[in-house]
Amino acid sequence: MAASGASAVALLVFLPLLSVLVGGEDPYRFFTWNVTYGDIFPLGVKQQGILINGQFPGPQIDAVTNDNLVVNVYNNLNEPFLLSWNGVQQRRNSFEDGVAGTTCPIPPGRNFTYILQVKDQIGTYFYFPSLAFHKAAGGFGGIRVLSRPMIPVPFPPPAADFTALIGDWYKTNHTDLRYILDSGKTLGFPDGLLINGRGWNGYTFTVQPGKTYRFRITNVGLATSLNIRFQGHTMKLVEVEGSHTLQSIYSSLDVHLGQSYSVLVTADQPGFDYPIVVSTRFTSKIISTTAVLHYTNSAGKAPGPLPGGPTTQIDWSLNQARSVRWNLTASGPRPNPQGSYHYGQVPTTKTIRLANSAAIINGKQRYAVNGVSFVNADTPLKIADYYKIPGVFSVGTISDSPTSGGAYLKTSVMGADYRGYVEIVFENSENEVQSWHIDGYAFWVVGMNGGQWSSASRQIYNLRDAVSRYTLQVYPNAWTAIYMPLDNVGMWNVRSENWARQYLGQQFYLRVWTPSTSWRDEFPIPKNALLCGRAAGRRTRPL
Ligand SMILES: *[C@@H]1O[C@H](CO)[C@@H](O)[C@H](O)[C@H]1NC(C)=O
Ligand SMILES: *[C@@H]1O[C@H](CO)[C@@H](O)[C@H](O)[C@H]1NC(C)=O
Ligand SMILES: *[C@@H]1O[C@H](CO)[C@@H](O)[C@H](O)[C@H]1NC(C)=O
Ligand SMILES: *[C@@H]1O[C@H](CO)[C@@H](O)[C@H](O)[C@H]1NC(C)=O
Repeated sequence: MAASGASAVALLVFLPLLSVLVGGEDPYRFFTWNVTYGDIFPLGVKQQGILINGQFPGPQIDAVTNDNLVVNVYNNLNEPFLLSWNGVQQRRNSFEDGVAGTTCPIPPGRNFTYILQVKDQIGTYFYFPSLAFHKAAGGFGGIRVLSRPMIPVPFPPPAADFTALIGDWYKTNHTDLRYILDSGKTLGFPDGLLINGRGWNGYTFTVQPGKTYRFRITNVGLATSLNIRFQGHTMKLVEVEGSHTLQSIYSSLDVHLGQSYSVLVTADQPGFDYPIVVSTRFTSKIISTTAVLHYTNSAGKAPGPLPGGPTTQIDWSLNQARSVRWNLTASGPRPNPQGSYHYGQVPTTKTIRLANSAAIINGKQRYAVNGVSFVNADTPLKIADYYKIPGVFSVGTISDSPTSGGAYLKTSVMGADYRGYVEIVFENSENEVQSWHIDGYAFWVVGMNGGQWSSASRQIYNLRDAVSRYTLQVYPNAWTAIYMPLDNVGMWNVRSENWARQYLGQQFYLRVWTPSTSWRDEFPIPKNALLCGRAAGRRTRPL
């Protein structure tokens, strides 16, 4: 990590807080973001949205593998605020993760500078506001991490690289939605769907005839799985959450909450304006929206009906999910083939089984994992851990297998050993699709199926070319299993991407721990870290 050369010296002079915590030899990209309220009209009615530098959705972050991102965030809302970086692994550095359990909120009128590194990552990610249901008001945006110039990418460079942030939307504002949840009620059905912050026909992607385009599709919504399709065009899948995939062709694609897919679309049809349709999946009624694929030689609206979504439900989606596979010979962030790490041959050290549930606690609707409905502590858990402040949380406050009986409220933390290799089984006995995300990690989705998981279920695991990603779906009355190497020390949020469920307790923290205090295993607290709760008044570094 030795910084060398005049530019590194200049950096240290101008930016003392960068310190030696990030790769000194890797490029820096600087962002200054002003977070404010502002009027938006995504479904035609005026709402107070959360803007970043005046934009909804927020600005796109463009980076290259190993870049250091220095993002100075000014909170001009009237509430504490944090951004989190979905899929950015924050290696050895969970302090920068920007969730309530790792990072003190930025108070109104103050700023905080995140220092992230997209270490050994490529692909499609996003950021979002993690506190207080702010995500329902905006504040999210795309992150794309390109391969370094010398690393081969398994498809020709596209003519343009588009981001499509798709998601459901409520006309009710985030403070009212929060009030509904706090009073124990459910949110009900979303009012509409958005593509890049716009409703029906509101957003246009312009393409030139004959050229091929990359679309990075992310479901940034709160409540519903979505399906996307392009009238008259197919999609060639090339990347899923940091992995290059087998390049299969799809006419429509299911995108569950928090998931990201990159597809190539070739403008090989007569010159028209084609609708891109997004609609809800597995819902009692179906709502949809469209964007426009506009050819530069367009003769107007393309003839023909809107393309319909899949008519069969779970089986179709399950089969599609199984068809998403790793391209073993393609490079990922490094020049060696992705498949050179034989994830299926590494013996697992532990099996963790997680079951979601909807529970009424103290007369209110809550959601739980293994019988525990998570509540935030008065101090971020990672910071309490760092200063050894007792009484904030205890390790082992959530079981590593499903429990019988009711659910209760607790600040739940599961302990795990650094360098373990775990099998995690997500079990869903409810009637709705679940979507789960693990911060700090990517994992191999080795299997999913209907019914109850048992050790015999391992016979259907894909131990060869399952895709490595960071957000998984679990179908109703079904299970999904992953393999995950515990190679990143820290305090990591495991959460539902269904935002009401996350807000009402379907989450916990995984404390991946080592007795080592070497910076090779984990960085110390950042010099500029805000300190709050029981850590207020401490020093970030000994003098
Ligand atoms: C952020 O925007 C607000 C509203 O436009 C403005 O008053 C404030 O000065 C801006 N702050 C920064 C740091 O740019
Ligand atoms: C949300 O709407 C309510 C009225 O329904 C209003 O009192 C509140 O200030 C609004 N919150 C925001 C953040 O705009
Ligand atoms: C707030 O911004 C100032 C000016 O760029 C910077 O020096 C300071 O470190 C930032 N504060 C934090 C806590 O990052
Ligand atoms: C896998 O990646 C290689 C590049 O290493 C590429 O040539 C090949 O077409 C890809 N295979 C599939 C099935 O996508």
